Amino acid sequence: MSSRQLHLNVNLLHSGVYASAWRLPDSDPRACFDVGHYVRVARIAERGKLDAIFLADTPAVTDRIDYRPFMSLEPTIILAMIAASTSHIGLIATASTTYNEPYNIARRFATLDHASGGRSGWNAVTTADAASSRNFGLSGVLEHKARYDRAKEFAEVVHALWDSWEDDAFVGDKATARFVDTSKVHPIAHRGTYYSVAGPLNVPRSPQGRPITVQAGGSNDGRDLAAAQAEAVFTLAQTIDEGVAYARDLRARAAAYGRPGDAIVILPGLATVIGSTEAEARRRQDELWELVPIEYSLARLAGTLQIDPAQLKLDKPLPDPLPLPANANHTMFNGTVNLARRGNLTVRELLRALGGGVGHRIIVGTPERIADDIEAWFRAGAADGFNLMPDVLPDGLEAFVETVVPILQNRGLFRKEYAGSTLRDHFGLPKPPSRFAKRASAAASA
Ligand SMILES: Cc1cc2nc3c(=O)[nH]c(=O)nc-3n(C[C@H](O)[C@H](O)[C@H](O)COP(=O)(O)O)c2cc1C
Repeated sequence: MSSRQLHLNVNLLHSGVYASAWRLPDSDPRACFDVGHYVRVARIAERGKLDAIFLADTPAVTDRIDYRPFMSLEPTIILAMIAASTSHIGLIATASTTYNEPYNIARRFATLDHASGGRSGWNAVTTADAASSRNFGLSGVLEHKARYDRAKEFAEVVHALWDSWEDDAFVGDKATARFVDTSKVHPIAHRGTYYSVAGPLNVPRSPQGRPITVQAGGSNDGRDLAAAQAEAVFTLAQTIDEGVAYARDLRARAAAYGRPGDAIVILPGLATVIGSTEAEARRRQDELWELVPIEYSLARLAGTLQIDPAQLKLDKPLPDPLPLPANANHTMFNGTVNLARRGNLTVRELLRALGGGVGHRIIVGTPERIADDIEAWFRAGAADGFNLMPDVLPDGLEAFVETVVPILQNRGLFRKEYAGSTLRDHFGLPKPPSRFAKRASAAASA
């Protein structure tokens, strides 16, 4: 068994990553509103010994809900339900740094960490869609750089709050009536550009010390946030070269913050369409693609490129030039345009390659082919693992767990059993000491 182990997450996108997944005969159209659906999928992921499940989130109706399921239920409540029905699978959810307060987010994910025995992870995103801004008294999306500057301070405050209790602050001594050793509970006294937070947190230090912080956003600002504050990143890469270049850049940035190269687990998105034969997998992809209304895919692409859909001619390449709008989703914009230019694709071919809006890399094929692909990226250093997006849920994940995972296990690339019970154990990340405990011991030894 090689020492470096693969990490596999599942991005639990309601009925599956394809916009048409809910329309397949065996799919339950109501799945995205059914907590039981998420619990069932999480249990399949745990059976496959996967690292974690991830629930994306935006606090608004953003997608074309006339066509497809969407992010609806509040993710941390779903994760709490899943925590009660599972024992090892990691539990990661998005919470916006633009439309929340650091104290509430620190408290919510620390509580989830206590409730799950140390399996909690927070995906810190700035929320780049306009619909959310209008739900929080804004007329539009905050400027890209400002969103990330705020996110950086937000994450600093959350981490300080998570450190505000030392591991052994709780006493609970009935004889001496001593409940908590308050000398080990610390105000954080944060005064910054965006936040002023006294602290301490009102939740004791959680099993992981700090829940895992994840970041998703590959722009220059996004990478800087990840390098400074994240322990795992969700990325978008369409080729091994892109993956290697991103990994090198991120690790160099982390080193500039004094962090070791393996301090961050890099997980590109990977959508999977599995068949027992190549032909069967292609047929499944065709069936899913043909059920995606073309006007939906066009609207989604125009949204990513922030252009009028009328500019997109199906049998022509993308308009050229196509400048990157300053406040766009840089990762998705660049990933999409690079995919089109690299393959000299027409809009119709691009939409098909994007699976009608998936945006991430899609692999279609037999379990062996998918295992070979995952191994190639892993060995090339283009990824520490993947944020899997099965085509249809739960079936697509069931197929991955039943057919691809055993191949990866037999090649010694992926765990056959969980070695520990926390998300940090799964990701191979150390438990960070509280900064206050560190200061106390430094003062004691001075
Ligand atoms: C795998 C992945 C998951 C994401 N999940 C969310 C999410 O749950 N909510 C959200 O608002 N944005 C999400 N995003 C979008 C990012 O937060 C970010 O806005 C986007 O990647 C653009 O970032 P950039 O402009 O820094 O490149 C996700 C992005 C990726 C790659």
